[in-house]
Amino acid sequence: MQSCYLDNAATSWPKPELVLEAMARYHQELGVAAGRGATRAASEVEATIARCRLRAARLFDAGSSDRIIFTFNGTDSLNLAIHGCLKPGDHVIASTLEHNSVLRPLNELRQRIGIETTFIEPAAQGRVEPARFRDALRPNTKLIALLHASNVTGVVQPIDDVGTIARDAGALMLVDAAQTAGHLPIDVRNSPIDMLACPGHKGLLGPLGTGLLYLRPGIEQHVASVRQGGTGSLSEDDQQPDRLPDKYESGNHNVPGLFGLESALNWLEQHNISERHAHELKLRRRLIDGIASSKSVRLFAAELSDELVVGVVSFVVDGFDPQEMAAILDQDFQIQVRAGLHCAPGAHRSLNTLASGGTIRVSFGPTTTVEEVDRLLDALRQF
Ligand SMILES: Cc1ncc(COP(=O)(O)O)c(C=O)c1O
Repeated sequence: MQSCYLDNAATSWPKPELVLEAMARYHQELGVAAGRGATRAASEVEATIARCRLRAARLFDAGSSDRIIFTFNGTDSLNLAIHGCLKPGDHVIASTLEHNSVLRPLNELRQRIGIETTFIEPAAQGRVEPARFRDALRPNTKLIALLHASNVTGVVQPIDDVGTIARDAGALMLVDAAQTAGHLPIDVRNSPIDMLACPGHKGLLGPLGTGLLYLRPGIEQHVASVRQGGTGSLSEDDQQPDRLPDKYESGNHNVPGLFGLESALNWLEQHNISERHAHELKLRRRLIDGIASSKSVRLFAAELSDELVVGVVSFVVDGFDPQEMAAILDQDFQIQVRAGLHCAPGAHRSLNTLASGGTIRVSFGPTTTVEEVDRLLDALRQF
């Protein structure tokens, strides 16, 4: 039986064929580094990376492509934003739903350089209330960080309302779009987002080892580079270049990864994101409705309108540790899901699943089928 992959929130699979072809072609025919040579192969590599940047800028309506900084994953993008903009004494507001790739940098900086932090609990249905962010503002609030959608429940957060509060207060707004980039339309030009961080390997359908950070024009003055080194530009100068994107992209790029990401973004341009979202929500609805009749499966799925949720569903099966159930699904039914805390302990605290090992998480991609959801439902009926 063919394996059924329902863990797209961790990393998407399968990738579009174009992505595999582009990566293979890079390895077989080019193989050179970016920005470090004048050969024809090097020029093609440069052109592909430039196209990748342009496509990413177009996807998020970022205007100029040099607003897009390439990183190695979502965590790397978030670390650049957080470590780059905070100084001793700064105050940060974030939600308790954040991934450890936000919580841990903030806690590290609190202990190491003395930043202050306030974490806001979600209200009903797993959404934060923007007013709570306003109430938490202090004169030294430098940054508000909020994930766009929870990687445990799929609930979309009010980033525009919270971003407006940040803007009115003169604070920076960082959005973690790890679970929405590629799944939902995102328009940074018309949203009060100063920094948007996302992996390239989840909803954008690129390979592992890719990520990006969007910086609104002017924000680079508030964000220091966190790694310095060779950029292939201005090599006579032993100071880190100020210009974008070089300021933040030291060392060799993940060129094969960016070849893959460029093709993935090309694939996305040829597909409608709203239709993809509708497809993933249809699968979510089928799973939720199918589970509703089960006495042994407990769902953590908010009843929210379509624009407030993405295709991520969490549940537990009575009498089974989530890890044990995930192992059974994998071994006996060839269904791959993710069990545990999903690096988001606060999200599980609010669901009351922290002490019991978290949940089983199912997450969809553009090629997930109704039959795959039905296969999972058939498997769950056995318990
Ligand atoms: C909400 C959220 N933020 C950040 C990350 C980190 O992304 P990456 O795995 O690319 O480092 C993830 C990954 O699971 C996530 O779900």
